[in-house]
Amino acid sequence: MTATIDSTHAAYFAFRDRLLGELRTTMLTGEQLCEAGRLIYGRPDGLSLYGIPAPDMTAKGITLLGRTVIECSIDAYTVPVADALAHIQARAEPQGPDANNPMITDLFCGSGNFGHHLGRRLSHPVHAAELDPAVHDAARNNLDRINSPISLHLIDYRDLLGKLPARSTHDTYVVEPPWGPAFTADGLDLTRTSPPVPEILDDIRRSRDGLPCYIAIKTNDQIASNSLNRSFTGAHHLQSVTPTPTLPHGANMDFHLYRL
Ligand SMILES: C[S@@+](CC[C@H](N)C(=O)[O-])C[C@H]1O[C@@H](n2cnc3c(N)ncnc32)[C@H](O)[C@@H]1O
Repeated sequence: MTATIDSTHAAYFAFRDRLLGELRTTMLTGEQLCEAGRLIYGRPDGLSLYGIPAPDMTAKGITLLGRTVIECSIDAYTVPVADALAHIQARAEPQGPDANNPMITDLFCGSGNFGHHLGRRLSHPVHAAELDPAVHDAARNNLDRINSPISLHLIDYRDLLGKLPARSTHDTYVVEPPWGPAFTADGLDLTRTSPPVPEILDDIRRSRDGLPCYIAIKTNDQIASNSLNRSFTGAHHLQSVTPTPTLPHGANMDFHLYRL
């Protein structure tokens, strides 16, 4: 690793600490959004949500809080996941009480960008839950700016599950809870997210009375204690999407699709 790469990564980790700390619920400036794109993804427009790259966000009225810039799943990652899921679903006949009218539920929606791309690609209605009022308000603003049909709720994910009985075996849930203490030196421990991933999956199962569904989950590129496999015991792994790393091992994002 060269001195230049080291210093770029050091700048990333320092910026990350600020975004999750003092700037956690602060609306970032256009300059800070471009800096985030450069430090996390290698160039300012690497940070792109709803099809809008960071350099254009301010002019288009897009607002992002510090925490969401670190936690979000960008266009370049979510579009391929949506494509992969569309191909998987095209090979299976939907079943269930409303088989041909499946829903997408983005349980920890943050920016809402993951649900946005799944909804567009699969042409299914999207319901989204966000518990932090500041994150919710920013997402509400952004989804309005892009005329998104996503149904966004300021609500705990469990309450949203309670409102949405299973419709179809093509129903899809996005599971991206905050990592917090789950982000360890040994990698991401999915049994320590808040709430833990196995608990979220049990909540989803309970809400569906046994009807199978699809799960899309983000991890980082270093999993601790085999916790991804352990969390999905009894589920079927379908595909993983592993974007080209832009950060040191353990700090990049991967995505996984499962049949639950
Ligand atoms: C990792 S972020 C999700 C990022 C998102 N997928 C995106 O692309 O922007 C997790 C989000 O879940 C929210 N959250 C935490 N606990 C929640 C809960 N119990 N119910 C709903 N949302 C919750 C947090 O406020 C945070 O915005």
